[in-house]
Amino acid sequence: MVPSTNPGEPISGTGEPQRTHHHEVFSAARAGHLDSRLRRFLYRPGCLAERYVKPGDCVLDFGCGPGFFTREFAKQVGETGLVFSVDLQEEMLQILRKKLEPEGLLPRIRTYRCEPDSINLPVDLNGTIDVAFSIFVVHEVPDPAKLFREIAALIRPGGTLYYTEPPFIVSGGEFRDNLALAEDAGFRLVETKFFFVNRGRRC
Ligand SMILES: C[S@@+](CC[C@H](N)C(=O)[O-])C[C@H]1O[C@@H](n2cnc3c(N)ncnc32)[C@H](O)[C@@H]1O
Repeated sequence: MVPSTNPGEPISGTGEPQRTHHHEVFSAARAGHLDSRLRRFLYRPGCLAERYVKPGDCVLDFGCGPGFFTREFAKQVGETGLVFSVDLQEEMLQILRKKLEPEGLLPRIRTYRCEPDSINLPVDLNGTIDVAFSIFVVHEVPDPAKLFREIAALIRPGGTLYYTEPPFIVSGGEFRDNLALAEDAGFRLVETKFFFVNRGRRC
């Protein structure tokens, strides 16, 4: 299911929150920091997509921000797949659309603005998502237990959740608390990884 720091590893499959941690929402005014060459070097989003996404997949990019990872997921799903890119801030979604439209990727992407405590995707998507990503976002969500339950409902049986958090911002304790919430929601931990910089060809 889940990794600890950088794009780490997945959860597989389909309680109540005891939140002691609080983090600010990453402002859309700083969106440029999320789509830089340095970040591409550090996280290799194309490798992540290649590893977890197949052509034709339905992908959820929860907390997509300005589309740093959505771009690669959209390339990887091809013309027969779809990426549902969800964010709290409409400004982030606008940046994503403006950036990915000239790249010809928008027909493969559906953008949704969600509520702070609910993903708010149409219920007919339940059970249809092959792989969901929550990259560097759960620490900003007020009710992670509810979030994991919602993601579990969206994922098809046997699908995958890839959950990761940023180092220095999210402690190991907070990360483990969130892993427990994901397990309460029905996920089974299949792999964890810790790394600062992904130097491998593949993630
Ligand atoms: C640190 S950014 C990461 C963006 C993207 N995942 C990436 O790694 O490039 C966190 C994103 O999560 C979004 N976010 C924060 N709270 C959220 C919530 N409750 N529901 C959905 N998105 C949220 C923010 O608007 C922001 O775009």
